[in-house]
Amino acid sequence: MVDLMSADKLRELSDSFESKSPSEVLGWALKEFHPQIALACSFGAEDVALVDMIYKISPDARIFYLDTDFHFPETYETRDRLIAKYGINFQPFKAAITLEEQDAEHGSELYLRDPDLCCKIRKVEPLTRALSGLQAWITGIRRDQAPTRANAGIVEWDQKFNLVKVSPLAGWTSSQVWDYIGENQVPYNVLHDNGYPSIGCQPCTKVVKSGEDPRAGRWSGFQKTECGLHQ
Ligand code: ADX
Ligand code: SF4
Repeated sequence: MVDLMSADKLRELSDSFESKSPSEVLGWALKEFHPQIALACSFGAEDVALVDMIYKISPDARIFYLDTDFHFPETYETRDRLIAKYGINFQPFKAAITLEEQDAEHGSELYLRDPDLCCKIRKVEPLTRALSGLQAWITGIRRDQAPTRANAGIVEWDQKFNLVKVSPLAGWTSSQVWDYIGENQVPYNVLHDNGYPSIGCQPCTKVVKSGEDPRAGRWSGFQKTECGLHQ
């Protein structure tokens, strides 16, 4: 196993992966860390492509999703179409408190008043639980999605959650992702065909007009651009 604590070693490895395909990166990561590695799947375009790649390498690899209780019905439908095609067991991680408890504790529509706290309760804390005991996690982030992701490594040490973070699509463009989905007939969220390039929770995801930034629909009206999983 690589020396996990050596940031230099990880950077070197990451640089060497720049010329490799995402599937080759995943092949390395799964060989190195399975079963202490999992894909964090939001059922967005990047993640369904990764599901297909992972399934072809190691069908029993762990895949989880953070169920915020605020997902679009189309997101759950995507999950179910992936299950039907691949027979994968997607492990859900939910917030420690229900929406009713959150409303009682913090007032209703917390996402309108304090989205950081809402994300902390419904995404970040469940992610911390999902990652506990793992040596590495796999994410679908890409560098050109946002300035906050511009320096993402293919492999790096995740200082926030204290494990290795593998982002095989870091250097890919959106077109490459869609080409992969088309060529491999991967089920995807139909909202992507209806004005939603980036999909999160229903209350915090709006339609994006043509010419707008693909992430303009996320937390639209707030300064917020990240929910705390990657920053
Ligand atoms: S977010 O931080 O703004 O919500 P984005 O939707 O771009 O993130 O997704 C980036 C990556 O974060 C995804 O490819 C996935 O690895 C992870 N991720 C985001 N939302 C979830 C979720 N609900 N469940 C699991 N992983 C998620
Ligand atoms: Fe809450 Fe919105 Fe964050 Fe989802 S994205 S957890 S609804 S603030």
